[in-house]
Amino acid sequence: MPTIVPYTFEKKEEKKEYFTSLMKDMKILVATEKPFAKKAVDGIREIVEGAGYQLALLEKYTDKTQLLDAVADADAMIVRSDKVTAEVIAAARNLKIVVRAGAGYDNVDLEAASTRGIVVMNTPGQNSNAVAELAVGMMVYMARNQFTSGTGTELAGKTLAIHAYGNVGKLVGRKGAALGMNVVAYDPFITDPKVFETDGVKKVDSVEELYACADYLSLHIPATEQTKGSIGYDLLMSMPKGATLVNTARKEVIDEEGVAKAMTEREDLKYITDVAPALHTEYGEKFGKRYFGTPKKMGAETAEANVNAGLAAARQIVDYFVNGNVKFQVNK
Ligand code: 3PG
Repeated sequence: MPTIVPYTFEKKEEKKEYFTSLMKDMKILVATEKPFAKKAVDGIREIVEGAGYQLALLEKYTDKTQLLDAVADADAMIVRSDKVTAEVIAAARNLKIVVRAGAGYDNVDLEAASTRGIVVMNTPGQNSNAVAELAVGMMVYMARNQFTSGTGTELAGKTLAIHAYGNVGKLVGRKGAALGMNVVAYDPFITDPKVFETDGVKKVDSVEELYACADYLSLHIPATEQTKGSIGYDLLMSMPKGATLVNTARKEVIDEEGVAKAMTEREDLKYITDVAPALHTEYGEKFGKRYFGTPKKMGAETAEANVNAGLAAARQIVDYFVNGNVKFQVNK
């Protein structure tokens, strides 16, 4: 790639065209251990190749070395929950941008990326509806004894408590309200009460208050140093009789021992999670139908979410290379 601009540009478009032409050989790697739907891959290819770049696909890889090999000459990378560690970043000599096609970017080592000047982005909101639908489906599944015999209960009239009122939390709240649930929410990062008021959602001011009223607690906090292991014994014990914890966020935010202790002491409590915790087998043996964990993360596993998030990721990469757009950068 030449480093000296050979002439001055009369028009802005000429400059853009010139720099775009410099980038023609760039390789965009889609590295997905859990692959996108074909429609999403086709759409990503169209965007990437339409911009004049090459697309490389690494799907269903089973070993870290496959990822290390694939990133070696990649200029950009699209991932899902794939772990972009310091080792992966060190192996990616040409890497300029990583886009996590999804919301949570706890799988990307931001510090390692920033040290190398690599831009990291997510695609907020693009798979939120899929996750929100799963959360509601999980509530019904638990209310109806995991679709086995016995008398279940209904969601209508119950209190749905939303922990973190972001893109997914809002959608879960709206769907719950449509089913006749009373929706309350807690989000320490939203200071404007109107955000809750416009949705007809009751805002509570502490996490303790939220759990204490939750027939269903839908968890939407990210996995950070502050939140990891933060949902455990005390919060579960404070929940009303027959309450269900629904986790479509991250397994890391759960204090698994604490939850196990609470569910052992209180035989009315239920826990459903996407994705299965480390104590999955123990939970299954001890708690039977009061527990369910998906074997793989299912929240964003819809064709629509794959297309929305995958195509957004591809567009963001092209927009970054062509226009320098960093709107969705998370390591600023
Ligand atoms: C997200 O953070 O966007 C979701 O957890 C989806 O993760 P996935 O792309 O691995 O399904």
